[in-house]
Amino acid sequence: AGSGGIAPHLLAWYDAHHRELPWRIAPRALASGTKPNPYRVWLSEVMLQQTTVEAVKAYFRAFVEKWPDVEALAAASTEDVMKAWAGLGYYSRARNLKACADLVARRGGSFPDSEASLRELPGIGAYTAAAIAAIAFDRPAAVVDGNVERVVSRLFSIATPLSEAKPEIRALVERMVPDKRPGDFAQAMMDLGATICTPRRPNCMLCPLRADCSAILSGDPERFPVRLPK
Ligand code: ADE
Repeated sequence: AGSGGIAPHLLAWYDAHHRELPWRIAPRALASGTKPNPYRVWLSEVMLQQTTVEAVKAYFRAFVEKWPDVEALAAASTEDVMKAWAGLGYYSRARNLKACADLVARRGGSFPDSEASLRELPGIGAYTAAAIAAIAFDRPAAVVDGNVERVVSRLFSIATPLSEAKPEIRALVERMVPDKRPGDFAQAMMDLGATICTPRRPNCMLCPLRADCSAILSGDPERFPVRLPK
């Protein structure tokens, strides 16, 4: 990816307007050398797979207080982990979390740093592998969730129904990911989708990408992503 385009606008907005989240390292701190902790990134991304940011916050804090690193989580009993997970739902995530911690601890306690090797661990699918590679290891991975699909559908006013447009959207994100700060780029796309480019009544007036966005010109950005009638 070059220096022009969408990423610089998005990153400048993220520097000023990023959400403060318990698992997140602020761009200022990252720039002055604070390193992401792969254990915390992994734990947060597994919790966020099917649960909202607001609901995850307290669970994330409780987990890292109880089990500050992967060795501690591996040493815990499955029963205690299931108890701490109670209320988050989708309990197979907790079982996979424990299996993954055991495996990583047995291998010396370091998470692998490539998307492909992360993908082989229990409970880590394509999305989570990309998110960990980008956020924890600064890899230019394309992190595509529902929020990102909506943002990109609007940027390019993609008229194809979302169910068919996913490969195209992924290819577009791959071209947008910057070589520098891919982790912040991924998190900025998530924040933009959550706070500005919302499903209903997006706040285009405040959007850092309004000059780059094709859906604004249509006058009805809510039309995107296009969905097939049920
Ligand atoms: N949803 C999934 N991963 C996230 C992250 N790292 N920050 C905010 N929302 C998320």
